[in-house]
Amino acid sequence: MTPGARVAAAAEILDRVLAGDPAERALTNWARASRFAGSGDRAAIRDIVFDALRRRRSAAALGGAATGRGLVRGLLREAGQDPATLFDGIGHAPAPLSAAEAAHLARPIALSALEALDCPEWLAPDLRASLGASFAPVMRALRDRAPIWLRANLARARREAVAEALAADGVATQPHPTSPAALQATGNARRLRGSRAFRDGLVELQDIAPQVAMEALPLAPGMRVLDYCAGGGGKALALHSRCPGALFHAHDSDPSRLRALPARAARAGATIGLLAPGAVSASGPYDLVLCDVPCSGSGAWRRSPDAKWRTDAAGLAQAVARQDAILDAAAPLVAPGGMLAYATCSLLDAENRDRIAGFRARHPEWHLALERRFLPPEDGDGFFLAGLVRQSADTPTAPPDR
Ligand SMILES: C[S@@+](CC[C@H](N)C(=O)[O-])C[C@H]1O[C@@H](n2cnc3c(N)ncnc32)[C@H](O)[C@@H]1O
Repeated sequence: MTPGARVAAAAEILDRVLAGDPAERALTNWARASRFAGSGDRAAIRDIVFDALRRRRSAAALGGAATGRGLVRGLLREAGQDPATLFDGIGHAPAPLSAAEAAHLARPIALSALEALDCPEWLAPDLRASLGASFAPVMRALRDRAPIWLRANLARARREAVAEALAADGVATQPHPTSPAALQATGNARRLRGSRAFRDGLVELQDIAPQVAMEALPLAPGMRVLDYCAGGGGKALALHSRCPGALFHAHDSDPSRLRALPARAARAGATIGLLAPGAVSASGPYDLVLCDVPCSGSGAWRRSPDAKWRTDAAGLAQAVARQDAILDAAAPLVAPGGMLAYATCSLLDAENRDRIAGFRARHPEWHLALERRFLPPEDGDGFFLAGLVRQSADTPTAPPDR
């Protein structure tokens, strides 16, 4: 496909996303219907679509319309490329610019501060209050692609051996300076899923923030661990890699979300017992119960940029109510002396500290034993982790680790 044809395809897919399709589904549907597109074309089109969604607000203002065509024009303009060079109607390229479109592109545009940061207007006060001085740097970071982080499965191999196995399949990596399992993919990351290291369960895709967060949780052989909101099981697998001698159970209120976990666990050499929703209450107690709760996903907007524009006040209120309910339901499953861990990939206090404060107000016998906030770009994606311990007469009150 020519550069113009790729831009036209991206504009068409963006129109589907703007009409309500999730970005991944819109891309898959387009690829199924466009067998002529090679893997290089699909990857390039995906990059344009995701770049445009990360910068949807500024691209619409610069391009003159909140449409697929407008977003692509704005993206090209921001990159210093004249849209007219690709909007020429030749072959499968987009139709030439209309007089009104060309006139908009010729006019200087002064973006407002929130437009320049690609921040949703309605959420800006909450984000600003939650992030303080980090508001602008974090929002700026979320306009760019995220680095790709991998987690070496230390239960299977040393990180150096995993890096060598990846290199044999052409995937270049760099070790993280402090996290013992993390590798940043620095070249040919798209070959990862076809690599022997991936097929043999030596490595998983996982952002650096959840990796470091999972390293902060107390874990020892023989401990009983419950991943209460396990989904695909990424956190349970990270914990298993750290301590294969612990006993792991995974639960999700939607059992279909656990579907991928048995194959993933088998690849990693992990045994993780799956619990049906009705079976969880009788399965405890656990020394560690992790609640990686559903949230706005605002910390991961670089990876799921359509969520940035889809989140609304009603959805956020619903998420907050669910987060409270999950904590309340999971707390009785924690054994005396055990930890209730709460995690989100949210930047918002409403989903992080406020939920912990609310829980402690409802259950004053619990105290905060650890709390960590991760902010992009330095820490990876935005992530929050809190660890709660039930107070008893002989539990000393530890200050939170901030
Ligand atoms: C953020 S995702 C978990 C991601 C997963 N931990 C991972 O690392 O791949 C949140 C999960 O919580 C589940 N969930 C939602 N409400 C729940 C509830 N009341 N109890 C348990 N799980 C719930 C969702 O189905 C979803 O799979």
